[in-house]
Amino acid sequence: MLAQGVIVRKVGEPRVEEFVVDDPGPDEVLVRIEASGVCHTDLLYQEGQAGDNYPFLLGHEGAGVVEKVGPGVENPQVGDHVILAWRGPCGQCRFCRIGLLPWCSNNLNADKSRLRTQDGQNLTTVGGVGTFCNYTVVNAAQAISVSKDIPFPQASLIGCGVMTGIGAVFYTAGVRPGSSVAVFGCGGVGASAIQGARLAHAQQIIAVDIAPQKLEEAKLFGATHTVNVNDGDPVAQIKELTGGNGANYTFECAGRVETLEQALWSRDLAGVCVMIGMQAPGATLALPLQQFFGLGGSLRVSWYGDCLPARDFPMLADWYLKGELKLDELVSGHIHLGQTAEAYQAMHDGKTMRSVIVFDGQQ
Ligand SMILES: NC(=O)c1ccc[n+]([C@@H]2O[C@H](COP(=O)([O-])OP(=O)(O)OC[C@H]3O[C@@H](n4cnc5c(N)ncnc54)[C@H](O)[C@@H]3O)[C@@H](O)[C@H]2O)c1
Ligand SMILES: [Zn+2]
Ligand SMILES: [Zn+2]
Repeated sequence: MLAQGVIVRKVGEPRVEEFVVDDPGPDEVLVRIEASGVCHTDLLYQEGQAGDNYPFLLGHEGAGVVEKVGPGVENPQVGDHVILAWRGPCGQCRFCRIGLLPWCSNNLNADKSRLRTQDGQNLTTVGGVGTFCNYTVVNAAQAISVSKDIPFPQASLIGCGVMTGIGAVFYTAGVRPGSSVAVFGCGGVGASAIQGARLAHAQQIIAVDIAPQKLEEAKLFGATHTVNVNDGDPVAQIKELTGGNGANYTFECAGRVETLEQALWSRDLAGVCVMIGMQAPGATLALPLQQFFGLGGSLRVSWYGDCLPARDFPMLADWYLKGELKLDELVSGHIHLGQTAEAYQAMHDGKTMRSVIVFDGQQ
């Protein structure tokens, strides 16, 4: 069948195109996408900063309905509402075998030839998913069934930004109740880290951004203090807010070298700095090692918040339905497939938390 999606054949040139979608093979499922969040990472693919395996089918933060299942699939089932995951641990590699499933080195994906351009080229899907489109094929392990009560736009955000921010707090950093937290960059991911810190009962949650509107919105998710980088050195501002000490946990969610540096040096003794943002190719950090040693603690990279989608997606959906996890506030607006350029402009201008592409007249 033919589907419609945002395809990038050349750096910086996304186009809505029709492409070919095959039936799902063994252990695969065909999903009708109902909503897809516009995460910053797709822009990096679009701009040639995340590899050159063209053509790309953008989008990796989606939710939809299972339309068909391939041979051998027991879960999910046709009609299930699913959130798509960009990691599906294999259960058998050297990491999975010792229980470190979030680090799986052989994540399950659909066969790459299932999605093709009309001129016969296999599409590289972002994160092995592809959600800026109305249909995609993924491995069954990447399609996680959730309650039908959660609306698709809100559900889609769990598929990347929300899971990453919340998981970084609970699984990567292990934020303790009563602690202090600083979050650099308050987009979809950073706002979710702030929300995670609130759910973990951190005492002081400092939001750091350059856009005043983002800082205002950060308060909705749980920020107790805000730091506008334009008002002066954020490290000094954080020290001042924390009695001269710095924060116990810092999260870098802007994907910039200077924010990573600031996140490292705004820690208290033995503090944990979590690197979430994707850096540009060739980006490097000069690290004064004596000071780094003297401060103690750690710098940790968080992929996908060290999550296990099959365990965590239904749990986050449940938190939303209980009123504990704020997702409505994260959806800045609904857009059409052809409006991703505007969504990225609004993201760049600091005007959106998340634009969400919706299908089937939900616009
Ligand atoms: N590690 C992972 O698994 C993972 C998952 C999802 C996204 N990401 C990455 O996380 C980052 C954030 O993604 P997002 O979708 O939330 O992006 P976003 O563009 O919505 O948010 C980035 C925020 O950083 C702010 N910012 C920009 N410059 C700043 C500065 N100098 N100081 C402080 N704040 C600044 C922006 O105003 C914006 O609010 C991106 O690099 C993305 O690629 C990583
Ligand atoms: Zn594995
Ligand atoms: Zn993402």
